[in-house]
Amino acid sequence: MGDPDRFLLAGVMGWPVMHSRSPLLHNYWFKQHKLAGAYLPLAIQPAGLAAALRALHPLGFAGCNITIPHKQEAMKLVDDVDTLAKSIGAISCVLVRPDGSLAGTNNDCYGFIQNIRQEQPGWRADLGPSVVIGAGGGSRAVCYGLAQAGAREIRLVNRTFARAKKIAEEFAGPFKVFPWEQRHEALDDAVMVVNTTSLGMVGQDALDIKLDKLPARALAVDIVYIPLETPFLEAARKRGNPTVNGLGMLLHQGRRAWQAWFGIEPEVTAELRAAVEKTIPDGKP
Ligand code: ATR
Repeated sequence: MGDPDRFLLAGVMGWPVMHSRSPLLHNYWFKQHKLAGAYLPLAIQPAGLAAALRALHPLGFAGCNITIPHKQEAMKLVDDVDTLAKSIGAISCVLVRPDGSLAGTNNDCYGFIQNIRQEQPGWRADLGPSVVIGAGGGSRAVCYGLAQAGAREIRLVNRTFARAKKIAEEFAGPFKVFPWEQRHEALDDAVMVVNTTSLGMVGQDALDIKLDKLPARALAVDIVYIPLETPFLEAARKRGNPTVNGLGMLLHQGRRAWQAWFGIEPEVTAELRAAVEKTIPDGKP
């Protein structure tokens, strides 16, 4: 920063990666902050991940985001991983240090919590039981965030029971693990339900869950953002529940990445949200 000849560079490594809205987001911030720079989609096959990460320094990249399917593998390849990312078991962001070493962290947890705080200002994690559906990497970030934010009860439901049990055992938190068949009943008395599975994403089946037991004021959250309104969120909205989609999680995790790479924490404004939303198909036939 501060050098007028310096062109700032960052990107996202994924495979596939062209669906990612991160370039739009970060290039918006370069423009807004009047900085010369670019954020690139980096289509990296799994076999090329190690070499691609090592190339960041010689190419002059400040760092990169890591997305599907590299989040776990990249954690093994960087030089340092912070405690948060180790707990989640995946990294979402790499910082290139001046000596070329690579530091990995995970900003998904921050993105998830910040998005809810911005969209639902009255929200608190300790208002009552929260239900988390899924036990993959997304779930780990959400569970960690909820536990840290002071949740008193987290009901974890996953198709593969053992994966949910593992999270409950690893994380110090108030977890109750439910079998997949009991996902409908687990909603009883809940103040929030979060879908962290890939179900509902464009091209995938919808999440199969009956919302009858979900209290009318409970918040329904999805971490999927293509489409913006998944069938799960649509069903929740139609019965009167407040909803939060997954786009803001992506936008907010980007703020932390910027802070690490460029020393600036940019804002998620309504204008930015609208600019990204405009590019997302509604998923309706
Ligand atoms: P990510 O890291 O993106 O969360 P993941 O580790 O593959 O991805 O996890 C995907 C989640 O979606 C898991 O909770 C998975 O359930 P399993 O642990 O049983 O695999 C869940 N999921 C994917 N397809 C599903 C389906 N058809 N029905 C129920 N759950 C499904």
